[in-house]
Amino acid sequence: MQVVSHALEGAVLVITVDNPPVNALSHAVREGIVNALSDLPSEAEAVLIVCAGRTFIAGADISEFGKPPLSPGLADVLEALENCPLPVVAAIHGQALGGGLELSLACDYRVLDSKARVGLPEVNLGLIPGAGGTQRLQRLAGVDTGLKLAVSGKPISANEALDVGIADAVFQDQLVTNAVAFAAETAKQKRCLRDAPAPPMDTDAFDRWTGYAHKKMRGQAAPLAVIDAVRHGLENGFEAGLKHERALFEDLVSSHQSKAMRHLFFAERLAGKPPRGVEGKPIALSQAGVVGAGTMGVGIALSLLAAGKDVVLFDVKPAALSVGYDRIRAVIDGDLAKGRISETEAASRRQRLTKAEDWSGFDQCDIIIEAVFEDMEIKKTVFAALAERVRADAILATNTSYLDIDELARSVPHPNRVLGLHFFSPAHIMKLLEIVRGEATSDDVLVTALALGKQMGKISVVSGVCHGFIGNRMISAYGREAGLLLLEGASPQAIDKAVTDFGMPMGPFTMADMAGLDIGYSNRKKLSPDQYETRAVLVHDQLVEMGRKGQKTGSGFYRYEDGNRTPLHDAKTDEIIAAVRTREGITPREIDAEEIVERCIFALINEGAALLGEGIAARGSDVDVVYANGYGFPRWRGGPFSYADQVGLDYVAERIASFAERFGTRWWTPAPLLIELAKSGGALATHEN
Ligand code: CAA
Repeated sequence: MQVVSHALEGAVLVITVDNPPVNALSHAVREGIVNALSDLPSEAEAVLIVCAGRTFIAGADISEFGKPPLSPGLADVLEALENCPLPVVAAIHGQALGGGLELSLACDYRVLDSKARVGLPEVNLGLIPGAGGTQRLQRLAGVDTGLKLAVSGKPISANEALDVGIADAVFQDQLVTNAVAFAAETAKQKRCLRDAPAPPMDTDAFDRWTGYAHKKMRGQAAPLAVIDAVRHGLENGFEAGLKHERALFEDLVSSHQSKAMRHLFFAERLAGKPPRGVEGKPIALSQAGVVGAGTMGVGIALSLLAAGKDVVLFDVKPAALSVGYDRIRAVIDGDLAKGRISETEAASRRQRLTKAEDWSGFDQCDIIIEAVFEDMEIKKTVFAALAERVRADAILATNTSYLDIDELARSVPHPNRVLGLHFFSPAHIMKLLEIVRGEATSDDVLVTALALGKQMGKISVVSGVCHGFIGNRMISAYGREAGLLLLEGASPQAIDKAVTDFGMPMGPFTMADMAGLDIGYSNRKKLSPDQYETRAVLVHDQLVEMGRKGQKTGSGFYRYEDGNRTPLHDAKTDEIIAAVRTREGITPREIDAEEIVERCIFALINEGAALLGEGIAARGSDVDVVYANGYGFPRWRGGPFSYADQVGLDYVAERIASFAERFGTRWWTPAPLLIELAKSGGALATHEN
C-alpha cells in the first residue's frame, strides 16, 4: 500500500498521507513526503499536506523509538518542507499531535477543521517534542503557549489554536476543498518559523509552568526538560535551541521514565483487547438498567449515558431514586455549563434517562448493572428479582469490589450472562474498569463488556474471580505491610512520606483517613482472622473503637482542623500507637525509608505475581494498567511490574526471601512465577498467560 500519494488540483500539489490507523510518521511516511517534495511539478504554485482517515498525523511512530533510526528522519522531512520553494499548507482534521503538530509548524500555513485538536503530548510518554516543537511553537504563538502545550501535554481546540495564532483559518466543513482554495488564493509566501524573531522573554510564564511541573507532574523529568529547551532557544537562538532540544530528547528516549510510560501507552491499548483464547462476538446494547441510585449507581448511569445508551434507573427506596436521578441531571447540567458537552448532547442525555417505578422497568434492557450495598445476600436478592423479569439473554452485571461473582452467577438461571463490572469511584470520572470474568461468563458477554468499556471511555482490564480481583487483592498486601511497619516502629508520617517520595500520590494512612477507617473495620468483620493479618490493623481497630474514623470525624491517624483536609500530626495518635505496641510486647525500632518502600511495594509486586501466575490477570501489563489508572501508581515508573523489571526480578526475589527469613513465610512466600521469571531472565510486565 502506498502511504503517501500526491496529485495536482489546479496549481496546488496535494500530498496525502494514508497510514492507518493514526497516520503516525513511520519511515515510509517520512520517505514518501520527502520524495514528493523533491520532484515538484512545474505547474504547482503551492503544496498542501492532508491526511486520509480519521486524523491528521498523530505523531512519531512510537513503536520505532529505541530502534536504530532509519533515514530520512523527521528532521529531514521538516527541512524539506522549509526548503520547499513553494508555500506549504497543512490541512488538519482529527488531531495533530507531537511530530504531527511539529510537521505542521515547519509548513508555512495551517488550516484546521473546526473539530480538530492540536497538541504536544510527548510528556505523557516521558519525552519532549523532538522535532523543533519547543522552538517553533514559541516563535509562532509566544512563550506561554509554547510552554503550555508542551509542559501540560494537553491538546487545545481549533478555536484556541486560531486565537493563539497556530491556525491561519478554521473551516466548519469541507476541509480539503477549503484548504485547496486557501493554498491557491491565500498561501502566497514562505513563512519559515526558523527565520522568525524570538518572542520576548516571559518570566511569569516560566515561573507558572515550572510551578505546574513541580506540583502536578512531581517526579517527572520530561516537563522540566521542556522548560529547559524552551529557555535555551530563547536565550541562545533557534539553531542552538534545536540542538539542545534534540540532545534532551535523545537522553529521555533511553530513560527508564520514558520506557515506563511508553510501556503503559501500549499496555492500556492492549488491556482493552480480549485475552488470548476469547473469541466472542459483541452483542449490541442499546438499553441499560442500573439498580441502586447511590454514588456508584449515579456514576455508572452517567457513564452509560455518555456511551449513548438509554438508561433506566431504579432504587427500592423512592427517595433515594429521586435524589440519584436529580444528581445525574445536575452533573449533566454542570458538564454543559463547563462546555464539556454541547446543548444537543445534554438534551439527549436527559431524554435518555428514565426512572423505573419498579422492577418491571427493566423488561427491555439489554444489560442491567447492579450497584447496591456490598453484601452477597442483598446482591443475590437483586439478581433474583431481575432474573424473574428480564429477558433470558439480558446481561446481568454486578458492581462489586470483592464478592464472589461465581457464587452470585450460580444463584440465577443462565449464569453465562453474568459478570462483574468493578467501577472505581466516582464512576463517571475514574478511567479504570475491572471486568470480572466468572467461570461461566460467555465469550460473547465478555467482549460485549470490553466494547461497552471503550464506548464509556474507560480503560478496561479483564480480571478473574478472587477476593478483591486484581487491584484490591494487591492493595491489601501493600496495606498489610504499612500496618506492620507501624506496629514495628515507623510513624504514620514516616510511612506516608516514604511512599509519596517514591511517587504515590498519597500515603496509606492519609488514604485510610480519607476513605474512612470504619469502612475497612466493617469489611474485616465479614472475614475470618485467617484471611488477613490481624496485627496489621490493631491500631486501625483501636482508632475506630475510639470514634476516630478519619477525616469525617476530625481525627484518625491524623487530626484535621475545622473541616480542613490537611492531615496534621496528632500526639494522641502517637500515644495510641505506643499503647498498642506495649500491649503486644513490641519494642519499636528505627525503620528507614528504603525498608518502608521495599516492604510496601515488593508486597504489592509479589501479590501481583501470584495472581498473574494463577491466571487472574491475563497479562502482566494489565496489572500495570490497573495500578497506574486506579491506584495512582506513578506512571513514570510504569506500574508495579514495570518497576520490578527495572530494578531486577532477581533483586526483588532476593529481598522477598530475606523478608521471609525476618518476618516469616506466611506473607512473604515468593510467588512461583516471580522465581521462575527471575531465574529465566524473563519479565513480569510482558508476561502473558
Ligand atoms: N505511534 C504508533 N502507534 C500509535 C500512535 C503513535 N504515535 N498513536 C496511536 N497508535 C496506535 C495505537 O497503539 C493503537 O494501536 P492498536 O489498534 O494496535 O491498539 C491505534 O494506533 C489506535 O490508537 P488509539 O486506540 O489510541 O485510538 P484513539 O482514536 O482512541 O486515539 C490518538 C487516537 C488520540 C491519536 C491516540 O492514539 C494518541 O494519543 N496517540 C499518541 C499521540 C502521541 O503521543 N503523539 C506523540 C508521539 S511522540 C512524538 O511525536 C515525538 C516527536 O516529537 C517526534
